[in-house]
Amino acid sequence: MPPPPVNLPTVDHLAVLVVVDNTTDRSDLLGEHGLSLWVEADQGRLLLDTGQGEALAPNADRLGLPLQEADAVVLSHGHYDHTGGLPFVLDRARSARTFVHPSALAPRFSRGDAPPHRAIGIPEEAEAALRARPVTWTEAPTEVVPGVWVTGEIPRRTDFEDTGGDFYTDPECRQPDAIPDDQAVLVRTERGLVVLCGCAHAGLVNTLDYVTDLAGADAVYAVIGGLHLGRASPERLERTAEAVHRYGVQVLGPAHCTGPEAVRFFGTRFPEACVGCGAGTWFALT
Ligand SMILES: [Fe+2]
Ligand SMILES: [Fe+2]
Repeated sequence: MPPPPVNLPTVDHLAVLVVVDNTTDRSDLLGEHGLSLWVEADQGRLLLDTGQGEALAPNADRLGLPLQEADAVVLSHGHYDHTGGLPFVLDRARSARTFVHPSALAPRFSRGDAPPHRAIGIPEEAEAALRARPVTWTEAPTEVVPGVWVTGEIPRRTDFEDTGGDFYTDPECRQPDAIPDDQAVLVRTERGLVVLCGCAHAGLVNTLDYVTDLAGADAVYAVIGGLHLGRASPERLERTAEAVHRYGVQVLGPAHCTGPEAVRFFGTRFPEACVGCGAGTWFALT
């Protein structure tokens, strides 16, 4: 089935600030396993993800982030390391609309060596904060602010990409979790398409294939965010690099859960495009 049409005008201004990441070069910011990106476009500002909850508040204050003026808060998926900061964010961003795939609220677990297996879904307080006001549910592509869209569910078309881990929907870890809530943000600038990923559990190639379908484009200018390739096979890394090359990606910011080996691999393969992505990094994309 062809994807629904997306009206993706070219925005004149787009900047992305990494507010939370696993790493940071700045001594005045906190790093934590998590991701949060502040996005400024012509006609709106939004936060994509909120980290796991420790780093967001101090980093937002250090970076002078005007969270109270956010127009939207988007969750890339329902893992704790992207949603734990929601109570703080929604308390500050009183008028922001929220954009979430309904499956983000499902229980989910990561299998350890022995039970009890670890709950890794959205924390209770975060879910309560989310449910305290209207949510825009994003199974399908949805406009967040003018010119900025979130994909909704991303079709899984490749046969070499998985979700990147031992993920389950039940505490016994019997029912595999396909993480259908995984979604990316896309914006068109004069330089080309910009794609922001939370963890890219759908697979980076599936994500790039889908956003280019949605945009009617055959190239991608920038990819920033978590790419979840820590357990990727050499074949998957190679085929991911092929896609990055095919789409002509000029700015590649592998963040958060990409995995150090995959970051090194991309750095070697795309030395011109690959850039550090720790907390405090600004991307001027127009
Ligand atoms: Fe993550
Ligand atoms: Fe995740």
